[in-house]
Amino acid sequence: MTIAVVAIAIRKPIALCFFLITVPIAVTIRKIFTDKVKKSAKSYRYAMETMSSSMNDMLNMIPITRAHGLEEYEVKEIEAKISTVFRRGKHFDTLTAIFGSSSWASMSILHIVFISGSAYAAIKGHISIGDVVLFNSMFLSLTGQMLMMIGTLPQLSQAGESIESVYEILTSPDLEENSGKKHFDKIKGKFDFVNVSYQYPETTRHALKDFSLAVEPGQSVAFVGPSGSGKSTVLSLVLGFIRPNSGNILIDGKDIKEMDLRTYRKFVGVVTQESIFFSGSLYENVAYGDKSVSPEEVVESLKAADAWDFVEELPEGIYTNIGADGLKLSGGQMQRLAIARAIIRDPKVIILDEATSSLDVESEERVRLALDKLIKNRTTFVVAHRVTTTRNVDKIVILQNGRIIEQGSPAELLTGDNFYSNAVWQSKK
Ligand SMILES: Nc1ncnc2c1ncn2[C@@H]1O[C@H](COP(=O)(O)OP(=O)(O)OP(=O)(O)O)[C@@H](O)[C@H]1O
Ligand SMILES: [Mg+2]
Repeated sequence: MTIAVVAIAIRKPIALCFFLITVPIAVTIRKIFTDKVKKSAKSYRYAMETMSSSMNDMLNMIPITRAHGLEEYEVKEIEAKISTVFRRGKHFDTLTAIFGSSSWASMSILHIVFISGSAYAAIKGHISIGDVVLFNSMFLSLTGQMLMMIGTLPQLSQAGESIESVYEILTSPDLEENSGKKHFDKIKGKFDFVNVSYQYPETTRHALKDFSLAVEPGQSVAFVGPSGSGKSTVLSLVLGFIRPNSGNILIDGKDIKEMDLRTYRKFVGVVTQESIFFSGSLYENVAYGDKSVSPEEVVESLKAADAWDFVEELPEGIYTNIGADGLKLSGGQMQRLAIARAIIRDPKVIILDEATSSLDVESEERVRLALDKLIKNRTTFVVAHRVTTTRNVDKIVILQNGRIIEQGSPAELLTGDNFYSNAVWQSKK
C-alpha cells in the first residue's frame, strides 16, 4: 500500500488527494455500522448462551417433564429459543452483508469517478495513457486494502463478544468473592455460626434469621422443620454458595469471608436428594472423574457403602454401564452408590440432603447403616426427611420461619412435644 501511495504521489500529487478521500469515506462507513454490528453480535451471543443453558436444564429435567406430561410444552419452549438464535443470527449476517456491500459499492463508485477523471485528463493531454493504466491498478490495490481493513469489523465484533463471554465467567460472583483469599490446606471441620441472617435477593422475608450454632469436628447435626423453614438455606451457606447478609460463619475459627471457599469444597462431600449419575461405568461414576482412583479403592468404598453385594452380582461388575441408557438401579441402590462416591473422596465435611422418596423398610435400613458409616468422624449437616436417618445424629435443630426454635440430642427432644417428636410418633403409626 505504501508503494502505491508513494508511486501516485510522485507521478501525480493531485491523484493522491483523490485517493485520500477514500479514507474518511471508509472511516465513516465503518463508524455507521460499528455500533449496530456490535449490538447485533451481542444479542446473538446472548441468544446462543440462553439456548444452550436451557437445553442443559431441559436434559436434566427430562424425567420430571415426562412425569408431568409436559413434553410438548418443553419442546415449544426450546423451539422458541432456537428460533430466537436463528432470527438473531440472520440479523447479524444480514447486517454484515449490508455493511460489506455498502463499503464495496462506495469504493467502486469512487473507482469509477477516479477512472473517468484520469481518462478525461488523458484525453486533454495532461497525463499519458500509461499513467491511466498505472493509476487504475494502484487505485484498485489501495481500495482493496481499504476494504480489507474495514471488512474486519464483523470478525472483530464477534471475537470481542467471545472475550466478553469468558470475562463474564471469570468475574462471576463466586470466583470474584474467592480470588486472592487465603486457602484451606486442611480442615478439622469445626463450624461456628454467629447470628447469621440471610435473605434471598428480591424477597421480603429472611430465609434465616439470627442463626447461631456451634458444631464440633466430627459432630453430626440434622435440621428438621416445616417446608420453607430454612433447612436447605443452611446447607447452601455451609457450601458457601450463598454468603450471610449479616453475622459470621467460622470454619476452624476462620471467617469464611477471608477464605477462598473453592479450596474448602475439596474437603466436602455432598450426597444430594437426587443422586445424579452420568453415562459411563459404575467405576467411573463412583470415582467421579478422578483418574487416580484404582478399581480396588472403588470396591472398598462400595463395600463400605453396603453396595458391593449387588455390584458383585452384575455380569460386568464395576464396569457395568449405568446412567441414562445403562442399568436401571433401585432408589436404595442409587443412594448407596452416591454414598460410595462420597466415601471415596474421604471428605471431612458431609452435606446430606436426603431424598424425600420413600424406600422399602429393608433398603431404608441398609441406606441408614451406610450413612452411619459415612458420617462417622466427619462433620455432617443433614436435612433428613426420614426419622430413621436422624436416630444416630448428635444434635437435632428444629427450624421454623428461619429461626432455631429448639435443639438437642434425639433422646432429649423425644421427651418433649415438638416437630421432631411428632414426626417420630407419626412414623410409628
Ligand atoms: N432461591 C431462592 N430465592 C428466593 N427465595 C428462596 C430461594 N430459596 C429459598 N427461598 C425462600 O427461603 C425460605 C427458606 O427456604 P429453604 O429452601 O431453606 O426451606 P426448606 O426448609 O429447605 O424447605 P423444604 O423442606 O421445602 O425443602 C423459604 O421462604 C423460601 O421460599
Ligand atoms: Mg429444602
